[in-house]
Amino acid sequence: MAKTLDLYLHDLEVHHQVDPRLTALINHLACTCKEISFKVSQGALAGVLGSAGSENVQGETQKKLDIIANDIMCRACTESGFVSGVASEEMDHALQVPEDCEVGPYLVLFDPLDGSSNIDINVSIGTIFSILPAGEARRQVKDEDFLQSGRHQLAAGYVIYGPQTQLVFTLGFGTTLFTLDLGTGNFYQTVEKLEIAPQAKEFAINCSNMRHWEAPVQRYITELLAGSTGPRGKDYNMRWVAAMVAEVHRILNRGGIFMYPKDNRDPSKPGKLRLMYEANPMSWLVEQAGGRATNGKQNILDIQPEGLHQRVAVFLGAKEEVELVTSYHN
Ligand code: F6P
Ligand code: MN
Repeated sequence: MAKTLDLYLHDLEVHHQVDPRLTALINHLACTCKEISFKVSQGALAGVLGSAGSENVQGETQKKLDIIANDIMCRACTESGFVSGVASEEMDHALQVPEDCEVGPYLVLFDPLDGSSNIDINVSIGTIFSILPAGEARRQVKDEDFLQSGRHQLAAGYVIYGPQTQLVFTLGFGTTLFTLDLGTGNFYQTVEKLEIAPQAKEFAINCSNMRHWEAPVQRYITELLAGSTGPRGKDYNMRWVAAMVAEVHRILNRGGIFMYPKDNRDPSKPGKLRLMYEANPMSWLVEQAGGRATNGKQNILDIQPEGLHQRVAVFLGAKEEVELVTSYHN
């Protein structure tokens, strides 16, 4: 009989002295994502598809479900009693806990619905979260309180809304996978410890940007594309779902490398993906599964953030591949 999420979290409290408020927060996030999963599954039936007609802080057009998922996450976290504040990809600044709610010792950051361009076409999307220490429980959190490197994360994970709804997370004791049973409403552990093989057969990158990439990335991808006739001496396969959550999920389950490099389209941007809401939590999940994650120069988890919405180049997955493309940069 597979372990329930409740039991697994209880084991962490008993065997690893994890704070029961942290395990309760994870449980609460899992419940919250069930609500988002239900909304996503309803789609047009609930009138939740399509554009909301607004823009987020990054200047991206928001979908109705981006806003719905953000509202659900904000409310769930700030009313939980476990957090001092939250920060979201969809909001300009950190959100404080309302006066009538308890505060707790954690900060939660999230991308409420990653892979937004997949929403209206019924392709996988997900919610990504990262939990940092707040220092002490307080009410007046500022954006700067969240600017901690990924190494400070106490928990990180995502819920993927695909053919199955699955929760993948780590508290630093390996990366584990739970599947939502729609019959009982429980999450059951279906993979105890995910492991990424050091070599890869698959790579994921948006090749339509090839002409804009920097030289090290051009070189690496050209070598992969040359397959068995090139310097790598073997054939690779390519995948691109256009949702980071789905690419990372594939890599955690089947291996491979995922890249979203910096490119020359807008030299002011060091990449497309967000350090705090996407790269940090995913990098920790990947490292905990034996993989690696860099920005081409250094480990993503070691980057000292300077802004809540900062972007970063991302190379993550199979250790040997990430090390090779990183060596081309250095
Ligand atoms: O959140 C940004 C994001 O949607 C990622 O989930 C995904 O990996 C990427 O953008 C897709 O970018 P593009 O549209 O360039 O393929
Ligand atoms: Mn995203």
